[in-house]
Amino acid sequence: MRDELLSPDPSPDDVEIEDPLTPAATLIGEEGGLRPRRLDEFVGQRELKEHLDIVLEAARRRAQAVDHLLFAGPPGLGKTTLAGIVAAELGVGLHVTSGPALDRAGDLAAILTRLGEGDVLFIDEIHRLSRTVEEVMYPAMEDYQLDIVLGKGPAARSIRLDLPRFTLIGATTRTGLITGPLRDRFGLVARLDYYDAGELEDIVIRAAGILGLEIDDDGAAEIAGRARGTPRIANRLLRRVRDFAEVRSHGRIDRHTAREGLSLFGVDDLGLDKVDRAVLTNLCQKFGGGPVGLGTLAISVGEAEETVEDVYEPFLIQQGLLMRTPRGRVATPAAWAHVGLIAPPSAPLMAADPPPDLFSP
Ligand SMILES: Nc1ncnc2c1ncn2[C@@H]1O[C@H](COP(=O)(O)OP(=O)(O)O)[C@@H](O)[C@H]1O
Ligand SMILES: [Mg+2]
Repeated sequence: MRDELLSPDPSPDDVEIEDPLTPAATLIGEEGGLRPRRLDEFVGQRELKEHLDIVLEAARRRAQAVDHLLFAGPPGLGKTTLAGIVAAELGVGLHVTSGPALDRAGDLAAILTRLGEGDVLFIDEIHRLSRTVEEVMYPAMEDYQLDIVLGKGPAARSIRLDLPRFTLIGATTRTGLITGPLRDRFGLVARLDYYDAGELEDIVIRAAGILGLEIDDDGAAEIAGRARGTPRIANRLLRRVRDFAEVRSHGRIDRHTAREGLSLFGVDDLGLDKVDRAVLTNLCQKFGGGPVGLGTLAISVGEAEETVEDVYEPFLIQQGLLMRTPRGRVATPAAWAHVGLIAPPSAPLMAADPPPDLFSP
């Protein structure tokens, strides 16, 4: 399992500040309020913000509901936050639910019939809607109409209800998971990307300000550099460093405190946790840098194959530490350096000419 500190998924620890079901008003004043409420407080994702700004402004001028929006991207990058921002910017109500929570068509009907004119309905994990619920969604999105069947058997009859003009905002981790017909009904499909170090530094500094912490630029940079491109992780690391700083260094966060605190919690300078490091160390030490099969590598770190493939490898690959090749997993020179080992000349990728089959599809 991924070290909880470095998981992009919400943890119980984050709930105080991230529960999307809690009305925004009750969050203000608590430790929370870390979630940006306005578009101009939202750091990074410049292009997406620009598109959104135009869409919102156009809707305001026409005094109409905004087109349905789909936000796609890995967990912790700000999809739920953006849904809240859209509702706040338009001054309309926000209703929050999720794909898995909408079991039956009736669940969706109950929510749709409660919407006010222009309201935002946010469906998290929209790729997990069941087929029947998804089919109720189509006419609701397109024509603002809801077909419901009353009664059962021969006495059953169908009635059609008019719905207010609302804006559906869907969030998904991958657009590829959404069925074509559903995707086609969104007016804007926006992708969120991992944040760069400078943006994460801004996010850490902003969050520290809200939490009333004293932090310098170096301290913020140190935390940002280990946050795996993910604001949720950056905020969580900040809170752990705060704990450490309160106990060990009068609460002030500088580079030294941040470094010490994070290494105490097992986060290394690339933001790798124990299992990430075990993958790389085993790959280099036990298997000479590879190529080694996924199954063997997974057994060596005591994790399931799928976990290694879906949870650990993507970030290692993105960081240029590991490669998937047709013959197995291979450590890059950066991986050898990161685990503090010298690659033998025989290691793959160390030879002047890589074996030709290594890069073929
Ligand atoms: N662009 C951003 N600027 C500042 N904070 C952000 C930004 N994006 C996300 N966050 C922070 O990260 C946390 C996780 O964001 P969230 O919207 O819940 O992500 P997602 O829904 O994509 O999993 C939020 O509580 C918020 O504090
Ligand atoms: Mg979310």
